[in-house]
Amino acid sequence: MANAPHGGVLKDLVARDAALHSTLVEEARELGDIFLTERQLCDLELILNGGFSPLEGFMTEDDYVSVRDTLRLVPVNGQRQGALFSMPITLDVSQEDIDRLGLQAGARVSLRDPRDDAALAILTVSDIYKPNKALEAEKVMGADDIAHPAVAYLHNQVKEFYVGGKVQAIQAPTHYDYVPLRYTPAELRAHFHKLAWRKVVAFQTRNPMHRAHRELTVRAARQRRANVLIHPVVGLTKPGDVDHYTRVRAYQALMPSYPEGMAHLALLPLAMRMAGPREAVWHAIIRKNFGATHFIVGRDHAGPGKNSQGKDFYGPYDAQELVTQFKDELSIEMVPFQAMTYLPGTDEYQPVDEVPKGTPTADISGTELRKRLRTGAAIPDWFSYTGVVKVLRDSYPPRPQQGFTILISGYHNSGKETVARALQVTLQQQGSRSVSLLLGEELRGDLDPRINRAITPEQKHINLQRIGFVASELTKAGAAVIAAPVAPYEKSRQAIKKSVVGSGGGNFFLVHVATPLEWCEKVDRRGLYKRARSGELKNLTGVDDVYEAPTDADLVCDIRHDTVPEIVHSIIMLLESQNLV
Ligand code: ADX
Repeated sequence: MANAPHGGVLKDLVARDAALHSTLVEEARELGDIFLTERQLCDLELILNGGFSPLEGFMTEDDYVSVRDTLRLVPVNGQRQGALFSMPITLDVSQEDIDRLGLQAGARVSLRDPRDDAALAILTVSDIYKPNKALEAEKVMGADDIAHPAVAYLHNQVKEFYVGGKVQAIQAPTHYDYVPLRYTPAELRAHFHKLAWRKVVAFQTRNPMHRAHRELTVRAARQRRANVLIHPVVGLTKPGDVDHYTRVRAYQALMPSYPEGMAHLALLPLAMRMAGPREAVWHAIIRKNFGATHFIVGRDHAGPGKNSQGKDFYGPYDAQELVTQFKDELSIEMVPFQAMTYLPGTDEYQPVDEVPKGTPTADISGTELRKRLRTGAAIPDWFSYTGVVKVLRDSYPPRPQQGFTILISGYHNSGKETVARALQVTLQQQGSRSVSLLLGEELRGDLDPRINRAITPEQKHINLQRIGFVASELTKAGAAVIAAPVAPYEKSRQAIKKSVVGSGGGNFFLVHVATPLEWCEKVDRRGLYKRARSGELKNLTGVDDVYEAPTDADLVCDIRHDTVPEIVHSIIMLLESQNLV
């Protein structure tokens, strides 16, 4: 029999009664709307399906303060003390939302999925309160330090007020990815029941799994004579993590390496807070609700990394300690692990505390793994599995297969377009990537004919931002992008760079064709400068609009001194030095 849910009853708020359901749908049509953020959406999904049992809505001020200060909800129905709950689950709104929706105690509001506008639930407001964010950070995350991703989120994204109240569900958010791997707590419990799995060890993860994790979970299962639930988070994780699409493909590639019938993979739409110890307690509660009887907590569980003093926010085993503290009442057994390490002598993995002194060990750190993916260097079989490595290599191709953007900036007639076209031909001759040429004026004409006439500095900037967007999309898809607009403003060039580099670290280079204005004007065959000097053409760079010369170019050239083939050759050498060609 599966483990009892937290608080005794598995909440399942989705209305099954057809009449009630259609009444709620009708009502939601008339109500004001809150379009949920990604994090609120994750939270709501787990409130609705019972993953957060015993919660039935977003926390009221009483519950919020109690959870923040004591890790407990306020007692209900004559309880001596409230149920354990370690994470505030709150719905944040702005003053503007409160005014617009007329929010006050008793008001009802529909909660909508911003991706398809679907009404997911109706919230009945119990109270509206203003959180002390610094105190929340201090108590829940352990420090009011912006280096903590959840503290940064709290201060930068979370709105000023919280709205507490119960929700009535209309429907769960719709997912289009990995649908067969998504289970509600009730569905997962039914699955375990069907397979007669009495003991289930759940494994939380937000990272690709390799052999160490497979060995750890198999070891946990064998020790307890239990089955394994691989329960990775596919909601929000730590910024910079491997995206969940890649991770899920990697988990799917790993699953066949388990002994037949031992393990099951299910995805959890959780928005992590990276709150270490408190997060581990919360994770345990959630897994208990999903029917697991055991829960693995390893080294640095849900660790957020270093604080602004360069020290770890939490000790490596703080999470295990806090879970142990609530052992009796959690009624899901923690399976603690020290870091798993590889023993080349016997080709096996062991927790470090069980490795005899002096035994040679081997490890590949996350940083080292990323480096090997980047360079295409070998990843040994003792570390991972061929299928998992292939998934990662497909998502993180080595540099010679990665896209890049070269922004070539300079005055009209500086030679930048000739260089751009010559570079295009050279790269096309080399093959292996699709090559896209984005010329400033052509692009303006192609993308938006309306801004082809009198172009203000603001419009130039907007156009350059668009070039940045297009360049970043193409770069992500693995193309070689050559963009050669005038790009006269520092802020526009930075915007393009930021788009391309993005969170995935796309490759970007700036080439400044620094041919002086007098020369550009002298060789002007199309009469651009003449028209500008006569006042017929407005805002021409160099005449009546500025060119802010870049100070951070990767390459500076001048068409008076360097031939086009020489400049193209220098650009190729620049790419070569970065291992991109
Ligand atoms: S977490 O943020 O979800 O905790 P991660 O996916 O890296 O990050 O870890 C998932 C779980 O596996 C955590 O309990 C963590 O402590 C544990 N873990 C990860 N790697 C190891 C390892 N090499 N040895 C022991 N435990 C590990």
